[in-house]
Amino acid sequence: MLHPQRASAVSAAISAAAALLAVMLSGSAALAQDVSVGKQIYSSKAGCPFCHGWAGDGHGDPRSEGGAPTLRTSQLTRDQVAEVIQCGRPGTGMPYHDRFAYTDKRCYGMNSEDVGSLKPRRGDQTLQKDEIQAVADYVSAKIIGHPAVTKEECIEYFGSEIGECKLIEQRKG
Ligand code: HEC
Repeated sequence: MLHPQRASAVSAAISAAAALLAVMLSGSAALAQDVSVGKQIYSSKAGCPFCHGWAGDGHGDPRSEGGAPTLRTSQLTRDQVAEVIQCGRPGTGMPYHDRFAYTDKRCYGMNSEDVGSLKPRRGDQTLQKDEIQAVADYVSAKIIGHPAVTKEECIEYFGSEIGECKLIEQRKG
């Protein structure tokens, strides 16, 4: 038999653990919601697939400038992804999406004068801060760290098994 005091300490520990679990579950539900917002922006408003492909594997539209790498094996942290989306990559084809980038020193400590001819081009659509964060969440959760493109995620992305998804087995082989 547990001493009554021990027993109440044990039950306090159990309810603390239950409370923590509840917080974790509601946190992950919130994250899943953010990721769907980010996916929406990634795929439509921001037009990332034009260069990086819907799967972020670097298979963009043949009409894009090319050179967009796969994001699947990227080593960047979520915050670094957000920075690249916000500020682009000077001297490369990666555009910036913060309409005030390089008007002050918010991007890499450089304004237009500092970055000079290396200033990246502006994305076709600029994004609000929370939109940039949402896309970074999506890229970090669903693309980075998932090296192989699967048929399942293709169906999830497009909402049905479109022709593109049927080709995935072939693409892998
Ligand atoms: C016009 C083409 C183009 C568009 C549109 C574009 N990118 Fe890029 N992106 C590039 C290129 C090119 C690079 C490679 C930059 C370099 O050489 O460092 C790149 C690099 C990146 C990187 C850095 C990867 C790494 O590991 O260093 C991330 C992250 C990224 N893009 C995410 C995005 C997201 C998210 C979007 C949509 C908001 C987007 N890109 C839109 C062309 C594009």
